[in-house]
Amino acid sequence: MEWQAIEIRSSQWILLLLAIILNTCIQCIPIKVTSEVTKRTLIQMPKIRVDKPDSYICMAVPVTDLEFSTVVGFKIDVVKEITHHVAIAFCEEYETDQTVWDCKSGHGHICSGRSTVFGGWDGWSKNHSDTLFPDDVGIQLGKEVKLNYVIIQTHFKEAVPDPDALKSNPTNVTLFLARESRNYSYQKVSLYSSGYIPAFSEDFKAEITCKWASVPVNLYEYFAHTHNYGQLIEGYIIRNNTKLLLAMDKPKGKSHDTVTIEERHIEIRPDDILAVRCSYRNTGPSKVLFGLGGSDEMCNLELSFKYDAKEINAFPQSIKCGSDAQEKVWCPKGGHDQVDVLCDLQHEAANKDVQRDFHKLIM
Ligand SMILES: *[C@@H]1O[C@H](CO)[C@@H](O)[C@H](O)[C@H]1NC(C)=O
Ligand SMILES: *[C@@H]1O[C@H](CO)[C@@H](O)[C@H](O)[C@H]1NC(C)=O
Ligand SMILES: *[C@@H]1O[C@H](CO)[C@@H](O)[C@H](O)[C@H]1NC(C)=O
Ligand SMILES: *[C@@H]1O[C@H](CO)[C@@H](O)[C@H](O)[C@H]1NC(C)=O
Repeated sequence: MEWQAIEIRSSQWILLLLAIILNTCIQCIPIKVTSEVTKRTLIQMPKIRVDKPDSYICMAVPVTDLEFSTVVGFKIDVVKEITHHVAIAFCEEYETDQTVWDCKSGHGHICSGRSTVFGGWDGWSKNHSDTLFPDDVGIQLGKEVKLNYVIIQTHFKEAVPDPDALKSNPTNVTLFLARESRNYSYQKVSLYSSGYIPAFSEDFKAEITCKWASVPVNLYEYFAHTHNYGQLIEGYIIRNNTKLLLAMDKPKGKSHDTVTIEERHIEIRPDDILAVRCSYRNTGPSKVLFGLGGSDEMCNLELSFKYDAKEINAFPQSIKCGSDAQEKVWCPKGGHDQVDVLCDLQHEAANKDVQRDFHKLIM
């Protein structure tokens, strides 16, 4: 096994110094990036001072000169005591000229230009830290495909007043890299709700619809996510006025498991409608807003898909699709032309026994 150090260029040192001067990152030690020729690259976020709990710190590392340039998986290690959540992204560009920076204000928008973003690791779902793509799926890095940086975003649970007292650096990302490119590229669809859950709701439903306007792709994995009020999450593909059940999950607090779509890698075709519904129980006297904060609620279905790697411009970014929970977009307001099946489904779910049986059937 041979290890190779990637030098940090002097320009990066200057940026790093600027980051130290300009930002909450008061004390940064050198960023270590090592590349194992046998396919692993370790990227370490340095020990840094973090002034406030609930901070977001980002770090960008260029990945244009790797000998093995196809990402086929990754692993994230964290210091659990201080970490809420780690996201990683492969980006064309990012929105600052610093190497390490406080990225709370841009929360969720760490890249500009072309990008692929992963939830990575979170403290609620311990099984979500290692990701290995299917055998025929990879993410090509480099200038040619305009993915020039890997960005690590750590959401710190706690402040870190004395970085030297940390038992180790806060975050490691290990990229699994292959020399050969793969036939399919990775991207994801993210469906989510905005709006709110009204007070005193025994059974409130947030509905999302999204019409597929792009080339056919194959889904192979999903996770469904709500926070504390979620009872059930359902995802369907509506095609030619028939429904295909895609995903169903019973939420467990903020935790979520990644579910492989077995055998049949389900295809999404042009003109399909992706339809999601989350059911909530909020018997309290206050409405609950949808949002990214810890006390906000979420209705989120994330679908991982693969597409022909030759279609290089088909999905420069992940697809985001949001609906307002106050609009009943499944029926009749969705503005789509396949309302019958969704209207039936909306009606069907009013009968809780049907829903429960259905749930038993597919779990
Ligand atoms: C990151 O990797 C280094 C080198 O292997 C190790 O010493 C350190 O403990 C790791 N950090 C975490 C958070 O796992
Ligand atoms: C992780 O997954 C394994 C196998 O599916 C399961 O047995 C284990 O309970 C899971 N752990 C957590 C923390 O969810
Ligand atoms: C990738 O595509 C090439 C050309 O279409 C084909 O020959 C090869 O078998 C494919 N590889 C895999 C792993 O499917
Ligand atoms: C849609 O379904 C109808 C009735 O089953 C069928 O006749 C038609 O060919 C289908 N259209 C497509 C595009 O699959």
